[in-house]
Amino acid sequence: MQTLTLTRPDDWHLHLRDGAALAAVLPHTARQFARAIVMPNLKPPVTSVAQAAAYRQRILAALPAGSDFTPLMTLYLTEATPPEEIERAKACGFVHAVKYYPAGATTHSEAGVSDIGKCRAALERMEALGLPLLVHGETADAAVDIFDRERVFIEQVLAPLAQRLPRLRLVLEHVTTREGVEFVESCGPSVAATLTAHHLLYNRNALLAGGVRPHHYCLPVPKREAHRQALVQAAVSGSAKFFLGSDSAPHARGAKEAACGCAGCYTALHALELYAEAFEAAGALDRLEAFASFHGADFYGLPRNTARLTLERAEWRVPQALPYGDDVLVPLRAGETLNWRLKA
Ligand code: NCD
Ligand code: ZN
Repeated sequence: MQTLTLTRPDDWHLHLRDGAALAAVLPHTARQFARAIVMPNLKPPVTSVAQAAAYRQRILAALPAGSDFTPLMTLYLTEATPPEEIERAKACGFVHAVKYYPAGATTHSEAGVSDIGKCRAALERMEALGLPLLVHGETADAAVDIFDRERVFIEQVLAPLAQRLPRLRLVLEHVTTREGVEFVESCGPSVAATLTAHHLLYNRNALLAGGVRPHHYCLPVPKREAHRQALVQAAVSGSAKFFLGSDSAPHARGAKEAACGCAGCYTALHALELYAEAFEAAGALDRLEAFASFHGADFYGLPRNTARLTLERAEWRVPQALPYGDDVLVPLRAGETLNWRLKA
């Protein structure tokens, strides 16, 4: 196959940041995707509909002229989120989900939730209104081994939550383990998961074997090869529960190449090409369109896109660095060759 034409896809988990960083990364996403679920982990976090509205305006203002891209906004759940804010979110029409960060689990999660029991009223309102909860599924318990944090979170928090609120629409974001896939498969249609390109392509060796590779470091951290294979199987299975969420998370080069480097892989530049590579390696390029362009829209109750785009088999080199405000950003695979390319 030399070209692959798909319905224009959406990215159901994306970090766009703000200010000069936003202006630097947004054109990459707008070129590839028609819509994206925009993460609210700014500093300060986007906890209200008013903040989401202002952030949405900043995103629209930063779009290159002529782009056709719709940001789908989210709210950052805190232990103080009132059920009335959930009502406002549902009513406003541009907030499509609420993000649950266990406090301390990842970048800018300090304002997140330590005790999900404190969010009961907000979650019950979300369940009643059908507003999805997007879950960063890792325990922040420092006593738990970092490679076990997703599995332990599912056992201790997520499975009980799904049982207590069986109609709550839940997305286990950037699932990284076999246990995560099995949990999602064991639930009804109100529970789904996003999969990143980097977790489909890399296991933990890519992070640690032959030297520490800070640009492969993200949270949840990549796991063993057997887990990666389970993720690939889920992605290519055709199950509507699994869909594309790049988790593209830009950080300036110096913040990644440091004694204590930040978590996050930058893939907005070439997300579709990376997913195509993963699906092709699994012999399942014919399954890419449903995963990238149908399942997420269906889960969120939004219309599927109608425009189309084409990937062509053509080698190109990923730049070593990209402009990022006053700084630079190193994309995943910097300096390496990709075999698929999005046609202009
Ligand atoms: C994300 C970020 O940098 O905002 N980092 C990451 O490794 N994925 C936060 C997150 O989604 O965990
Ligand atoms: Zn993320």
